Amino acid sequence: MTSNQEIRTYYDELAERYDDNRFGNTYGRYLHEQEKQILRRWLKDIPVKDCVELGCGTGRLLDFAGTGVDFSPKMLKQAAVKYPKHQLQVADITDLPFSNHSFKAAFAVHVLMHLDIEVIRQVLRQAYRIIRPGGYFIFDVPNLWRRRFINYSKGGWHGNTALSQNELGIICGNDWRIVHTAGVLLFPIHQLPNAVRRPLRPLDSWLCRTPLKRFASYHFYALQRQ
Ligand SMILES: C[S@@+](CC[C@H](N)C(=O)[O-])C[C@H]1O[C@@H](n2cnc3c(N)ncnc32)[C@H](O)[C@@H]1O
Repeated sequence: MTSNQEIRTYYDELAERYDDNRFGNTYGRYLHEQEKQILRRWLKDIPVKDCVELGCGTGRLLDFAGTGVDFSPKMLKQAAVKYPKHQLQVADITDLPFSNHSFKAAFAVHVLMHLDIEVIRQVLRQAYRIIRPGGYFIFDVPNLWRRRFINYSKGGWHGNTALSQNELGIICGNDWRIVHTAGVLLFPIHQLPNAVRRPLRPLDSWLCRTPLKRFASYHFYALQRQ
């Protein structure tokens, strides 16, 4: 079981370097652009003020949400510099400081992969509480099927949890319906030369919307609250 303290300390220590370290290179920019494209498509009808980001970190994706929550004060401090007018709250996403049905949509990117399944269930319960009926919860999670296929065995909490769509469906029960799925990172981009990464991205994004998304590293899901 991973402790929250361990994750929070890790991100507090990384906060000042996070943007550059994770997204300042060709691999990070590739991911960033693919992820933004998905959010742009799926959130196009949701006003920014009606959307909250859970685990918003330094605010990489806060163009899509007017409110952000993170339990790392130092990550949020970076976000506040970029988004001084946003509502930014230090809180645990398993215990959100919002009243019922406050938002039309929530999203969490690169967050659930850190959490144990029981914690993911708690996050889904909180999202269910704060989102209005018919609203959406969007998130990404590593693709369990691909991990089994390539015999992935990296340990540690960082990318610990992967799910298949079947497992996710079981966790959702009757509270949520999976309405969209998309892949991210179909090509093993970290093994390819820098020069070909950018030109490959549109093809990767397109293939990740076809049945080949089954092979992608991550899956984005949009759940609709029932
Ligand atoms: C990999 S970063 C992702 C940040 C941002 N979503 C992005 O994509 O750039 C993961 C973030 O989740 C936050 N986090 C992890 N578990 C959390 C929890 N239980 N409650 C609140 N924030 C959490 C961490 O502090 C960190 O800022």
